[in-house]
Amino acid sequence: MNNSTPHPPGQEWNAGHYAHNADFVPKMGSDVIKLLSPQPGQRILDLGCGDGALTERLQELGADVLGVDSSEDMVAAARARGVTARVVDAHELPFDHEFDAVFSNAALHWMLDPQAVLSGVKRALKPGGRFVAEFGGHGNVAAICTALIASLQFRGISARGRHPWYFPTTEEYAQILQTVGFTVDSIELIPRPTQLPTGMAGWIETFANPFLHGLEEDLRHSIIDNTLVLLSHSLSDGQGNWTADYVRLRVSAHI
Ligand code: BEZ
Repeated sequence: MNNSTPHPPGQEWNAGHYAHNADFVPKMGSDVIKLLSPQPGQRILDLGCGDGALTERLQELGADVLGVDSSEDMVAAARARGVTARVVDAHELPFDHEFDAVFSNAALHWMLDPQAVLSGVKRALKPGGRFVAEFGGHGNVAAICTALIASLQFRGISARGRHPWYFPTTEEYAQILQTVGFTVDSIELIPRPTQLPTGMAGWIETFANPFLHGLEEDLRHSIIDNTLVLLSHSLSDGQGNWTADYVRLRVSAHI
C-alpha cells in the first residue's frame, strides 16, 4: 500500500516499481485482515488501497469494498484487478455514514494530518462502525531515517522538511482517536523486522524519494551509496540480504 495524501515532494507512485520492490507489503497484511474479520456483505472502505491487493482480498472474503488512494497510477492498477477504486485525498474524505468499517494497511504514515483523516473516517462510518488499521508506528524505519539524514548532512544538505512520514506512539494516536470520537478497542506497537526482496536500494528507490528530492542524479547516487554503507552494519547480513527495521502500529476502534 502506499498513500492517500497529496504526495510529499519527490514521492511519485509507480505501480510497476511498487509490484517489483514492495509486493511483500500486502503479503504481510493477514494479521490486520484477521483483526478486521470482514463479514460477507459488509460495506468496507480501504483507505490508501495502493494497487488494490488487499482490496481484492477483502472482496474475495465477500465484503463490498471501495478502495481509495491519492495516486492515479495505483488506482488504475487496483481497477485492473477488478476492484472498485477512486482517487481521493484521505484528508478530505467525501463519505457520509456509508461504511460498516474503514480499513487501512501501510498507508496512514503518509498522511500528515491524522486529525483531519480520522474526522473523515468517523464521518464515513455508520453508527457503531469500526476502524481497523496497521501502519508505521513510533520507531519505524528509525535506522533507515537516521542513515539517510546523516548521509545528507555529511554533504552539507539539511534534512529539514525531507522526512515525509508520521509514526506516532500508541498514546498519541489513541488520544487523537478519542478526541475525534472513537472508542479504542486495542492499540499496540509491534516490532516487525521485514526482509526486503529487492534489498535496501529497492526500498529507498520506492519509498524514500522525498529525502532526495531536487538533488542532482550523481549526488542522489552518492547519498544512497553512503546510506547503504551506514546501514550495512545493522540491516544486512553481509550476503546481500536486507531487512527493514519496521515497527507496526496496529489499532482497532469503533464509534
Ligand atoms: C512502512 O510500511 O512502514 C513504510 C513504508 C514506506 C515508507 C515508510 C514506512
